Amino acid sequence: MILKVWGARLGFFLALVASASGLGNLWRFPYVVAENGGGGFVILYIFLVLIVGLPLLIGELLVGRLTGKSILSSLSFFKEGKRTRHLGNLSILVCLLVLGYFSVISSWVLFFFFKYAIALFTSQNFVSQSAITQLMEQGWLQMLLTALHITLLFAVVGKELEDGLEKFVGYLMPLFAVILCMLVWRSLSLSTAEEAMRYLFYPNFSDLNWSSLSSALGQVLFTLSLGFTTMVTFGSLLPKDTDVPKAGVGIASIDSVLSILAGMLIFPLLLGGTNREPDPLMLFQAVPEFINQLPGGNVYGFLFFLFLYLVAFGASISLLETVVSNFSENHRLSRVRASFISGTMCFLLSLIPVLATSYLSHIKIRSSNLLVVWDHLLVNWLMPLIALMIALWICYGIPNEIKEAEFKKNDTFKDDSMFKHWIFMMMWAVPIITILAIILNIVGILQ
Ligand code: PHE
Repeated sequence: MILKVWGARLGFFLALVASASGLGNLWRFPYVVAENGGGGFVILYIFLVLIVGLPLLIGELLVGRLTGKSILSSLSFFKEGKRTRHLGNLSILVCLLVLGYFSVISSWVLFFFFKYAIALFTSQNFVSQSAITQLMEQGWLQMLLTALHITLLFAVVGKELEDGLEKFVGYLMPLFAVILCMLVWRSLSLSTAEEAMRYLFYPNFSDLNWSSLSSALGQVLFTLSLGFTTMVTFGSLLPKDTDVPKAGVGIASIDSVLSILAGMLIFPLLLGGTNREPDPLMLFQAVPEFINQLPGGNVYGFLFFLFLYLVAFGASISLLETVVSNFSENHRLSRVRASFISGTMCFLLSLIPVLATSYLSHIKIRSSNLLVVWDHLLVNWLMPLIALMIALWICYGIPNEIKEAEFKKNDTFKDDSMFKHWIFMMMWAVPIITILAIILNIVGILQ
C-alpha cells in the first residue's frame, strides 16, 4: 500500500517535472542568457525563480487541488466567478498561442531525431549545418512535421491517454538527465570551458539591458509553465495528500538545475564555434556539431533528440490538455471534438512561426526576425500580464481562510510563517516585479 501511494505520488511528481521541463530549459534558456549578456542575467533569473516563480507555482497547484477543476470551473467555484471568467479565457488563449509556436520548435527536434535515427541505422554521419538550412529553407517541411506533432497530440489527448503518457515521460526524465550530464561532462573538457563558465556564472550586471527583467521573468514563467494555468489542471489531478509547497520547491529546483546544465553544455560549444550571436537556432547549431565529433556520436544524438522530443511532447500534451479540458467542461463538447477543434486552431497558429523562419525570414523588425518578435511578444509581454492577473485573483478572489487551510493541509510547513511568506510574495513581489518589468520594457522600446 505504502509503495502504491508512493508510486502514484512519485509518478505525479515526475509527470509534473516532465511537463515543466523541456524546450524551455534546453532550447530557450541558453538563448535568452546569450541575449542578455550571461552571468548577471543568470543571477537575476534565479532570484526571480525564488520570489515570483515558486509562489505562483504553489498558488496555481493549490487552486487546482482545492477545486479539483481546471481554470474556468475553478474561477466560477468562487463568488467572483463571473467577473473573472475573462481571465480564464485569456489564459486558454495563451495556451493555444504558445502551443502553436511550441509545436514548431518540437517539429525541429523531431526532424533532428529522424536525421539521427537514419544516420544511426545507415551508419553515416549527417552534416548538421546543412540539416538546419534544409529545415529553414523548406517551410513546407516544418509544416508537415508540425502537423505530425499535432496529430500525435490530438490522438493522445482525444483518447484520454495523457495521464499514462505524462507519467511515462516522467519516468524517463532521470535517463534524460543522465545523457545530459554525460554531454555536459564532455563539453566541460573543451578548452573554452573556463571562459564559458566565467561568462555563465560571473555576475556582470552591466551587460543587462532594459528588457532583461521582463526576459528573465518571461523565462521563469515559461519554464515553470506559469500563467497558462496548466498547473491548475495538474493541481486538480494531484492526490489529495500531496504536499503542494514541498512539491513546488522540488519542481522549481529540478527545473533550474536543468537550465543551468543546458547552459553548461552549450556555452563552451558556442565559444569554440564561429557563431556567437544569440539565436533561437543555437541549440540546433551547437549540440549536433559537437555530438558528431564524439565517438558514438550518432547514439548520443539519437538518444538526446529522442528524449528531448519526448519531454517536448509531454509539455505539449499539458498545454493541449488544459485547452481541451476547459472546452469540454464548459462548452459541453466531447473530448474528441474539443481536441480536434483545438488541434486545428493550434496548427493554424503554428503557421506564424513557420512562415517567420522560412519564407518570411528576410523580414526583420529592429534587426530581429519575426520568430524572435513573436516569441518576445508572447513570453515577455503577454505572459507577465496574465501571471499578474492570476496572482491578483489568487490574492483577492479566494478568501484567505480557504487558502490558508489548503496551504497547511498536509504540508511540512505547518507553522504560520511559511504561509505568511507565500501570501506576502503573491501580494507584493509578484505584482511589483511584473509591473516594473513591463515599464522597463516600454522604456527600452522608446529608447
Ligand atoms: N515549461 C515548458 C518548458 O519549459 C513549456 C510549457 C509551458 C509547458 C506551458 C506547459 C505549459 O519546456
